[in-house]
Amino acid sequence: MTNGYLFREYIGAQLNGVQFTDVPINSMLAFHFILAFAIDYTPVSQQPTPAPTNGVFSPFWDTGNLSPAAVAAIKAAHPNVAVMSGLGGDSVQDVVKAFFAPTSVDSWVANAVSSLTGIINTYGLDGVDVDYEHFADGVDVDTFVECIGQLLTQLKASMPNIATSIAPFEDPVIQEYYQALWRKYSGVIDYVNFQFYAYGANTDVPLYVEFYDNQTANYPGATVLASFKTGNVTGLISPDLGISAAQELQQQNKLPGLFIWSADSSKNSSYGFKYETEAQQIIANH
Ligand SMILES: *[C@@H]1O[C@H](CO)[C@@H](O)[C@H](O)[C@H]1NC(C)=O
Ligand SMILES: *[C@@H]1O[C@H](CO)[C@@H](O)[C@H](O)[C@H]1NC(C)=O
Repeated sequence: MTNGYLFREYIGAQLNGVQFTDVPINSMLAFHFILAFAIDYTPVSQQPTPAPTNGVFSPFWDTGNLSPAAVAAIKAAHPNVAVMSGLGGDSVQDVVKAFFAPTSVDSWVANAVSSLTGIINTYGLDGVDVDYEHFADGVDVDTFVECIGQLLTQLKASMPNIATSIAPFEDPVIQEYYQALWRKYSGVIDYVNFQFYAYGANTDVPLYVEFYDNQTANYPGATVLASFKTGNVTGLISPDLGISAAQELQQQNKLPGLFIWSADSSKNSSYGFKYETEAQQIIANH
């Protein structure tokens, strides 16, 4: 039996061989892996550079290690595990930035619904997490709101059990686009994966809590998940601060869940998956 609280972790963006089975999984909570990322771009082999495909998504995560068979196996071994696909992300495997670049709302939505339904069925996935961080010139707020809102609405209509989330961070453009999306389409968005790890290294626990409170005000009614990152945190919030802040949020009875970016970075680190274990202990002891 899980306690209803949620732990999520991004996996697969760095192509460093990390596997689902590398990550410790606490059976007392709901655990979501988020594959990073499906992107509507042509392959990285495309010359001169990968280009946008107007909503036709392909997997750009480590599909060799994080395959349909690997998804089925981790879900069979752990009934509390679900697997999501992140959409977009910062870059196309560090070759070019991943821009949200629809040709029109109707064509982007039709392509996205069809391609993502295929990926969800092929991989046996349980949801999507919207991670666009760059908007092509001329793509206004309304276009983003309608493309993403209609996509999530149609996916939820055909697959009512999928989980959906959005992953904004503190940036004026990002907040404008994602808060407008939330205002109109909060009914089809289950979680806000706010990227608190984008805040500076000078953040202490009281300031983190203030950031958290402000984001719950910015996304009224949302289930806002706290977060931190592992690996290179030069200039950013450290995983130790992330753990302390999560403990404080839990003591204040505010913590619905927590996520980490990323399993890949933890695998590459000297400390391994210690923060995944600690973070899940906080959530599991609710
Ligand atoms: C939180 O929001 C309030 C009200 O908008 C603002 O005055 C304050 O500076 C914000 N705090 C942080 C840490 O961003
Ligand atoms: C860590 O991140 C900082 C800031 O982005 C960057 O300047 C530095 O090169 C990175 N270090 C490593 C080892 O990747």
